[in-house]
Amino acid sequence: MNTSSAAIEAVAIGKDFGSFTALDDISMTINPGEFVTLLGPSGSGKTTFLMILSGFEQATRGSLLIDGMDRTLSPAEARGFGMVFQGYALFPHMTVEENIAFPLKVQKRSAAQIKSRVAEMIELVGLAGHGHKKPTGLSGGQQQRVALARALAYEPPVLLLDEPFSALDKNLRGQMQEEMRRIHARMGTTFVFVTHDQSEALALSSRIAIFNHGRLQQIATPTEVYERPANRFVAEFLGEINVMPASFTSGMAQVGGISLPLPGPAEGATHLAVRPEKMTLLTGADATAMPCKVTDRIYMGATSRLLLESTTDATPLVLDQPTADLPDGVQPGRQIWVRWAPTDSLIF
Ligand SMILES: Nc1ncnc2c1ncn2[C@@H]1O[C@H](COP(=O)(O)OP(=O)(O)O)[C@@H](O)[C@H]1O
Ligand SMILES: [Mg+2]
Repeated sequence: MNTSSAAIEAVAIGKDFGSFTALDDISMTINPGEFVTLLGPSGSGKTTFLMILSGFEQATRGSLLIDGMDRTLSPAEARGFGMVFQGYALFPHMTVEENIAFPLKVQKRSAAQIKSRVAEMIELVGLAGHGHKKPTGLSGGQQQRVALARALAYEPPVLLLDEPFSALDKNLRGQMQEEMRRIHARMGTTFVFVTHDQSEALALSSRIAIFNHGRLQQIATPTEVYERPANRFVAEFLGEINVMPASFTSGMAQVGGISLPLPGPAEGATHLAVRPEKMTLLTGADATAMPCKVTDRIYMGATSRLLLESTTDATPLVLDQPTADLPDGVQPGRQIWVRWAPTDSLIF
C-alpha cells in the first residue's frame, strides 16, 4: 500500500484563549512518513497543537507549512487529514463496512473501488469477518480499529490521533500499540499521535515531542529523550530518575560525599541525575562509589528495586538491578556503595 505522506513544518506557533497562552513559540519539522508523538501532562497543549495541525483551530501566531506550502489559514477540509480521537463516534446505524466506506462515498469513488478499499482496510486492522456488524456489536478495541480504518481509508497525507487508546484496558492497549506500529509501517502515512503515557510514546514513535505548559521542551528520538533529556522536566517525566543536589568545580562533580568526573560543562547547574538502571551496587567500600543505606528492597520479577538513602546527605535514591545479580544479604539497614559511569551522569 502506498500513500502520499506529507511533511509538516510548524514555525513559532502560538495560541491564546483570551488572556491565557495555551501554546507558546512551538517550532518543529515533521518529515513525511514519520511517527511523531506529542507527549506531556494533561493541559500541556497537546490537543490544541493537534487541532491547529488539523485546521480545526487557528494559530494566534506563527505559521504552518505543509509540503513547503503556507497553509496557516487553510481550513480542515482543504487539508484532508485523517483523524482518530478517543471515543470518536462511529455512525451507529451503519455497519463496519459502511462506516469505512463513508469517506470514500463522500469522495465519490466508484463502487468497485470502494468495495476493494473497504476489504483492504478491514484486513489491515484485523477485523475480517466483522464487516457486517454494527458498532454496538463490537468491543471498545474493535470500535477503535474501525475508526482507524475509516480515517485511513481515503489515504490521507497525515493521520492525527488524540489519545485513541486511553479508554482501553492495559492488555488491549498493548495490542493496539503493536497494531499501530504495523499499520504505520505498512501505510507509510505521516502519523502525529497524542498521549500522556510515556511508555506508549517510547514504544511507538520515531520521535517524541515533549510539551509542558504550552512549550516544547524537546523533540528527539525515544532513545535521545530518555538517555539525553534536554532538561529536568523531560528527565523526570520520562521514567524514574535520581536527582541529587551537587556542586561543580572544573570538570568534577561533588555529590553524596564523592567526587566524579563530569561528562560535559556544568555552568549554573545545581543537580546531578542518574537513571536507576544505570547504577550498580557494591557491597564493599570504594572511594569512587557513593555510600548509601538500604531502606527497602522490592522484588519486581526479572528486576529488583532498592530504595536507598545517601549516608552523607540523606538524599533518597532508587536503584534497579537484575534480581539474579542482587546478593541475598542486601536487605534494609545494610550499608552499600553505588557507582555509575561518568557518562551516565546528567547535569541540570
Ligand atoms: N477552547 C478553549 N478555551 C479556553 N481554554 C482552552 C480551550 N482549549 C484548551 N484550553 C486550555 O488550554 C490548555 C491546553 O489544553 P489542551 O491542548 O487540551 O491540553 P492537553 O491536550 O495537553 O491535555 C489547557 O489549560 C486548557 O484548559
Ligand atoms: Mg488533550
